[in-house]
Amino acid sequence: MKFFVDTADIAAIAELNDLGMVDGVTTNPSLILKSGRDIIEVTREIAELVDGPVSAEVVALDAPAMIAEGRKLAAIAPNIAVKLPLTWDGLKACKVLSGEGFMVNVTLCFSANQALLAAKAGASFISPFIGRLDDINLDGMELIEDIRIIYDNYGFETEILAASIRTVNHVLECARIGADVMTAPPEVIKKLASHPLTDAGLATFLKDWEKTGQKIL
Ligand code: G3P
Repeated sequence: MKFFVDTADIAAIAELNDLGMVDGVTTNPSLILKSGRDIIEVTREIAELVDGPVSAEVVALDAPAMIAEGRKLAAIAPNIAVKLPLTWDGLKACKVLSGEGFMVNVTLCFSANQALLAAKAGASFISPFIGRLDDINLDGMELIEDIRIIYDNYGFETEILAASIRTVNHVLECARIGADVMTAPPEVIKKLASHPLTDAGLATFLKDWEKTGQKIL
């Protein structure tokens, strides 16, 4: 499973990228707001830093304006994926921009039928939002499973980019189901390394090591 980082925080991306943990980056208008940066500038910096796809989201609502914004964002760097909302106009823009050879990430997906439409419109990525479904007492993971089945049934090449990931268990379940990509905030990715038994085991080893009176360096 590929790891994308869901942030526009350059320092956080760089730290994970140095570890080889970053296969791509996703941003959205809320994350641009949080960064306090200009969308074009920060997106360019991210795209120079990482090798993989960097999603940058349009904010227009009608297809012609989405297409114009998408072309502008795609011109920032060759590894930009234009992020479009899953609306009827978003699908129209997806068809045009993917036909022009741009990577397209269709976002705000909350149903398997929406995911089916995005694949048919030529999306490179579909972004189902797990956490936001869980927030309203629906099963976000069931959506990932359904999309996996449907895409495999028909050999769609659109990659399932599991988004709105809030917990390490979300990551585990996505990997079990076979999501192609998951995007998570840096804190969630770092939490994957934590286990209380690792901490307890390390504490015991260090205590015993002290008793040996030895030094390695
Ligand atoms: O990639 C989409 C993601 O940023 C949404 O996450 O936690 O705001 O639902 P969240």
